[in-house]
Amino acid sequence: MNAIRIDGKAIAEALRARVARDVALLQAECNVIPGLAVVLVGKDPASSVYVKTKAKQAQAVGFNSRQFLLPSNVGEAELLELIEELNTNDAIDGILVQLPLPGHINRWRVLEAINPAKDVDGFHPYNVGRLAAGRPALVPCTPLGVVHLIKTVVSDLSGLNVVVIGRSNIVGKPLAILLGDAGCTVTGAQLQTRNLPDLCRNADIVVAAAGCAGLVRGDWLKAGSIVIDVGINRAIDSAGTAKLVGDVAFAEASERASHITPVPGGVGPMTVAYLLANTVDAAVSRRGLSLVPTPDAPTLCHLAP
Ligand code: GUN
Repeated sequence: MNAIRIDGKAIAEALRARVARDVALLQAECNVIPGLAVVLVGKDPASSVYVKTKAKQAQAVGFNSRQFLLPSNVGEAELLELIEELNTNDAIDGILVQLPLPGHINRWRVLEAINPAKDVDGFHPYNVGRLAAGRPALVPCTPLGVVHLIKTVVSDLSGLNVVVIGRSNIVGKPLAILLGDAGCTVTGAQLQTRNLPDLCRNADIVVAAAGCAGLVRGDWLKAGSIVIDVGINRAIDSAGTAKLVGDVAFAEASERASHITPVPGGVGPMTVAYLLANTVDAAVSRRGLSLVPTPDAPTLCHLAP
């Protein structure tokens, strides 16, 4: 079998186009321009690239896009002060603080300081709890992107066996909830899980989010399964060139899977696209509005009070 590549880049582009239409509608009907504030502490090269991409794409869909680049030695109190300003700034609908933060800053004090209504990462315990309880919430972007990619292959997930490898707050845990809500039987696995290859061999869908390059081998996979690779690992190839690789041994896995996401160009672009979608959701629900797809033109939305 030679797996079909799931083109996350193209799927994310379509989602961003929908977000841009919603932004235009919000502006035309309510004079609202969604505002997204992205905060970076320090100069970690990977985080700097992510933050730049997020801010650039926010601008491209018509947001009021603000970047706050703070020195790595900024005090926690100063960062909390900035968050409080953004919480009360009516032009800002979404606040994202790029992780990881330097060691002298308490990540939880920072994440819990963000107004849950502007928490477009979905990391605040309020939103985490709402998601777990099945209540409307701002949901982490990468898991939303993963479910979206899977649904481009199978629209009805009920009854499918899924193994999610990795149990981070950003990906594995919220993803297990979303997939469970969609009717999947979810096995939450991690690097220490016994019989991990056997568990994967029984799975219709394998999601690898363990941060371990090439972990999932071709012979771990059931023929015809769907493989979603969330890993982004830096590696050196045989010619000595640095490149990004996922958590899945791509060539081997492509021989067994029916569909597979590449790295890069799979899950990554979906994370940024859902950040934009979450910001529109936050802008709309903060004002007591909703974007309703009309039945005759599902991509054209109108606002309902
Ligand atoms: N660091 C790695 N992924 C993410 C993410 O989705 N959001 C934030 N804020 N930081 C991250």
